Amino acid sequence: MRLGLYFSIGKMIPDHARHRLLNSSSVASLRKSNQKVRPQLFLANIGQLITLRYSSLKPGPRRGSGLKELGIIENGAVLCLGGKIVSVGTTKDALRDPWLKKNRKKVTEIDCAGKVVLPGFVDSHTHPVFVSPRLMDFEKRIEGASYEEIAAAGGGIRSSVEGVRTAGKRVLVEKVLTVLGDMAAHGTTTVEAKSGYGLTVESEMKSLEAIRDAASRWPGTVIATLLGAHVVPKEFQGRSPKYVELVCKEMIPLAAKRRLAQFVDVFCDKGAFTAVEAEQIFEAATQHRLSVRAHVGQLSETALGPFLRFNPASLDHMDHVREDDIAELARHDTVATLVPGANYFLGLKEYPPARKLIDAGVPVALATDYNPGTSPTLSMPMAMSLACTHMKMTPAEAIAAATINGAWALRVAERKGSIEPGKDADLAVFAVDDYREIPYWFGVNRCALTVINGVVAHPQ
Ligand code: NIG
Ligand code: FE
Repeated sequence: MRLGLYFSIGKMIPDHARHRLLNSSSVASLRKSNQKVRPQLFLANIGQLITLRYSSLKPGPRRGSGLKELGIIENGAVLCLGGKIVSVGTTKDALRDPWLKKNRKKVTEIDCAGKVVLPGFVDSHTHPVFVSPRLMDFEKRIEGASYEEIAAAGGGIRSSVEGVRTAGKRVLVEKVLTVLGDMAAHGTTTVEAKSGYGLTVESEMKSLEAIRDAASRWPGTVIATLLGAHVVPKEFQGRSPKYVELVCKEMIPLAAKRRLAQFVDVFCDKGAFTAVEAEQIFEAATQHRLSVRAHVGQLSETALGPFLRFNPASLDHMDHVREDDIAELARHDTVATLVPGANYFLGLKEYPPARKLIDAGVPVALATDYNPGTSPTLSMPMAMSLACTHMKMTPAEAIAAATINGAWALRVAERKGSIEPGKDADLAVFAVDDYREIPYWFGVNRCALTVINGVVAHPQ
């Protein structure tokens, strides 16, 4: 497929450094020069430019065969001005363009030398605000204990709470910032970040503030979610309704008032919150004009019908899902976000029924579920690899699920998730010849360069 070139000429600011890719000193100076001025970046000689441009005029997340449409341009080029993508096409056409001919010396140029460029990944489900890894859980599980048994024995989510409650906010900010930097190094440019290991009003707000403060020091986009309803904390044991009341009457109003979260999430499953409690939490979120999403069907089946009236942006995990709910979801724009890293790390044989969902027309996204208990990976290519090998998604479907459908799951698809004029200049350059190699080379990071808002964010 060939795309036309659309130039929208911004105000030009002199800046000229032309760089070949992957010379680290030149990349460092490129980053420096870019930061001083309104960035003007031209990526040329892209072996496969994965635009994710969509032929259908029907708005909404990708579903069915739409998940396979990558809009590939061979020998592509992208021009980014002022942090936005202004032009997408072939290198040949770009070099013939009169504007670029005239201004080429003023534009920072990256020769991609045949590599693959795709939209920065949108990781739409992560839990980055915690202090320590859960190594006891890890070993116990290896010895044969299940997720529920570990939680019942004092491990699990509750065992991450003390660390967050006693940590100063600065410690949490540094933890989150480190993860965001590592994510960018793996090609991720937009991240959803949940609270959920504080479980008091104060510690949940501290966690959300840590997300906000870390986000302010990271060039990418962070969407914050209040997950006060992650699990009932031990001081409320046996008094779950009282804790739900705290979430609804104090945490949600405060997070909304202080503009600390865009979404409210709830872990609706056995050992966590019931469907009725989840609905109460959704009611409170809606009253405070926060959008909703939920962890559902990870450990047991829950009927999804009652949730859909709240128009959740996403329902996540979905290992267990009813046939009638699959048919119903296919009629909604709620995205089913699958997180196979959790299945892998828990050593499960079963994975979410991605094929069934996709074939029925449910929009599917992929995310890492980065967290200390079930999915300590921040690598979207790893999640994609698992989706291909264990859930039988094709590499093309995995890419669309990790980019444009992640953007839909966060309601940022108007500016993220595809390489099209007008969208944010968030791009990942992979040192591979073919996009299928991204999920193929598992356990290794092939991301050579990450551009965020038109500026090189990785390598630093
Ligand atoms: O998405 N399921 C609930 N929450 C996380 C697990 C968090 C944890 O174990 O710390 C998840 O898998
Ligand atoms: Fe999760």
